[in-house]
Amino acid sequence: MDKPNTTQEADQEEVVRRALEEYYLAGKPPWDTGVTPPELVALIEGRDALPPGRALELGCGTGTNAVYLARHGWEVVAVDFIDLAIEQAREKADAAGVAVRLLHGDATRLDDLDAPGPYDLFFDLSCYCGIPPHRRDAYAEGLTRRAAPGARLLMFGYGAGTLDDTFSGVTADELRSRFAGWELADVTPGTNPFPTFWFTLRAGGARVP
Ligand SMILES: C[S@@+](CC[C@H](N)C(=O)[O-])C[C@H]1O[C@@H](n2cnc3c(N)ncnc32)[C@H](O)[C@@H]1O
Repeated sequence: MDKPNTTQEADQEEVVRRALEEYYLAGKPPWDTGVTPPELVALIEGRDALPPGRALELGCGTGTNAVYLARHGWEVVAVDFIDLAIEQAREKADAAGVAVRLLHGDATRLDDLDAPGPYDLFFDLSCYCGIPPHRRDAYAEGLTRRAAPGARLLMFGYGAGTLDDTFSGVTADELRSRFAGWELADVTPGTNPFPTFWFTLRAGGARVP
């Protein structure tokens, strides 16, 4: 397993994981609306809809969007590192009668999971923006190695400085430099009362081995 470099980094990862777990243990987390965002619906059902293929969702929570993708013909793998979230996602997929491969694990350590890809679509709704800085390169590398030529990454994230900690948030400049070989094709502000963004990235032609 790909370990943190320092005790401080390991502690930071654990603090983040525990904080997220608390939300699930307390009941319904505030983000768990059960509604698929219109930005994803547009990509899947809109005018220039993507043809169904293979999708990987990072930080899938209770599975609303993984189930949505599966219902629309996608072969879906969905990852979250909170087991309670994965359990609820499994129940949701079973209730919907769709097949979603739900993996309990870390989106920045995909090599530890059975998720080789290649994927045509990656979907991330508020996962990357909460990942500690020292794990973000590994996240980008994991996706890059699993990207089919021309794959999309649709990501929603909070702007830098939005949350009450020192590292959460994501910027267009950060994604441009971190996702080598990808093109940042679109940045659309979210509708929240604080800075949020929908990013669309497109992978280059050759899959990195
Ligand atoms: C703000 S929640 C959003 C959940 C879901 N995407 C939704 O919109 O309902 C972020 C999710 O990402 C998961 N997450 C955060 N960091 C992760 C990591 N490194 N690996 C796997 N899951 C992670 C959390 O457990 C949580 O379920």
